[in-house]
Amino acid sequence: MVRRARLRVSVLVGLAITVLVAFVGGIAYAVMVHAQEAQVTRELRYNAQFGTPSTPPGCTWLFVLDDGVLNDGVLKVPPGFPRQDDLDVVEASGGTIERELELNGTEYLVLTQRGADDTTVQAVFDTRYQLADRRHLLLALAIAEVGGLLAAAFMGLGVGRGTVAPLAEALARQRRFVTDASHELRTPIARAHTRAQLLARWAKAADLPDHHRDGLDKLVSSIRGLGDVVDDLLLSARLSRQPDGLAGRAVDLAALAESAVATENDRADERRITLTVERPTGPLVVVGVETALRRAVDELLANAMRHTPEGGRIDVRLGLRGGCVELTVADTGEGFDPIEADRLFDRFHRGQDGPERRFGLGLALLREVVTSHGGTVDAFSHPGKGARFTLRLPVADPSTATGVVPGKAISTGPR
Ligand SMILES: Nc1ncnc2c1ncn2[C@@H]1O[C@H](COP(=O)(O)OP(=O)(O)OP(=O)(O)O)[C@@H](O)[C@H]1O
Ligand SMILES: [Mg+2]
Repeated sequence: MVRRARLRVSVLVGLAITVLVAFVGGIAYAVMVHAQEAQVTRELRYNAQFGTPSTPPGCTWLFVLDDGVLNDGVLKVPPGFPRQDDLDVVEASGGTIERELELNGTEYLVLTQRGADDTTVQAVFDTRYQLADRRHLLLALAIAEVGGLLAAAFMGLGVGRGTVAPLAEALARQRRFVTDASHELRTPIARAHTRAQLLARWAKAADLPDHHRDGLDKLVSSIRGLGDVVDDLLLSARLSRQPDGLAGRAVDLAALAESAVATENDRADERRITLTVERPTGPLVVVGVETALRRAVDELLANAMRHTPEGGRIDVRLGLRGGCVELTVADTGEGFDPIEADRLFDRFHRGQDGPERRFGLGLALLREVVTSHGGTVDAFSHPGKGARFTLRLPVADPSTATGVVPGKAISTGPR
């Protein structure tokens, strides 16, 4: 995030300076072209009226047609001049013809009009020096633009670094605080969880009223939830420290999913939910951090269990598609509004899940895990009929897939 912010600031500063130089240069060029055109037209009109063919000013030629006889001042005239057709038209019907001509590798301005004593005059102006001035200005602007770009790149880098440094520092402190606090909280929470479990077991054996036993069960599940949140915070901090992918081992996702499903079997039986896994016979190997992937699969299963009513079914399917290992968890629960499909992955976004206290973090963290492994996750829903979540992770190169972790059941917290 910090790197992206730095890059964005650099690019914006660079763009601003480039646009500014181009804008100022553009205005200078337009003003110059306009002034040149006005000056040339003024001179041409003056020369057509008062000049003589034998002594025209520089870059100008004058032709006078008097009773069909052409006076070209006996000067060496550029090829293609005079424009006889214009002279004939003006001589026959009067008026003025003004035109620009590209000829002889330059641009000419040609003005043909009636002159004094019933003559017809044609004034020709060669704009080669004006064109050269324009070319020089464009070259100067191009050099200024390149220089400006280089300066902008350096300034952008400096400004980007300076602007983002406090943000980077704040983020680093925040991450440190989260990891330190989570780490310190883990042990007391695990201890409290064990004690609460012992108490709940004792309460089952002792002849306690039902509401006390219920209270203890709720205490156990609340402490377990607290432990999950602390684990999620630690994992999230770890992932954000390694945004370019995790240095991981080869993990058999099929075995990992089977193991995750096995731990949910009892809960599924209790609620008469059919829980199935469908997988090809061989391993489906991806490279990654096994605990993180396990939590991702656990999260999908936990969500599916929560949203599937008694008697429903949850199907976990694994396969290979387009160079990716694909894992799908489909349930027959109430589903969600399809418009929400993307927002479900936002932090703290949660639907109407009844009285149970949830955090809306599970899918956000899952997406962090999956994207940091170079994969994707999609959500699909058929409201009233069920939801389907699909993970896709790049399949590991078989030649490098050593040390396959068979996906054993792993406890990542006081579950
Ligand atoms: N299988 C599902 N069927 C229907 N809705 C789902 C399903 N899975 C997730 N959702 C919806 O997506 C929301 C976000 O899920 P997420 O796992 O991020 O949060 P949570 O389960 O509410 O809380 P947490 O996972 O942090 O304990 C849920 O609140 C729920 O509305
Ligand atoms: Mg969840």
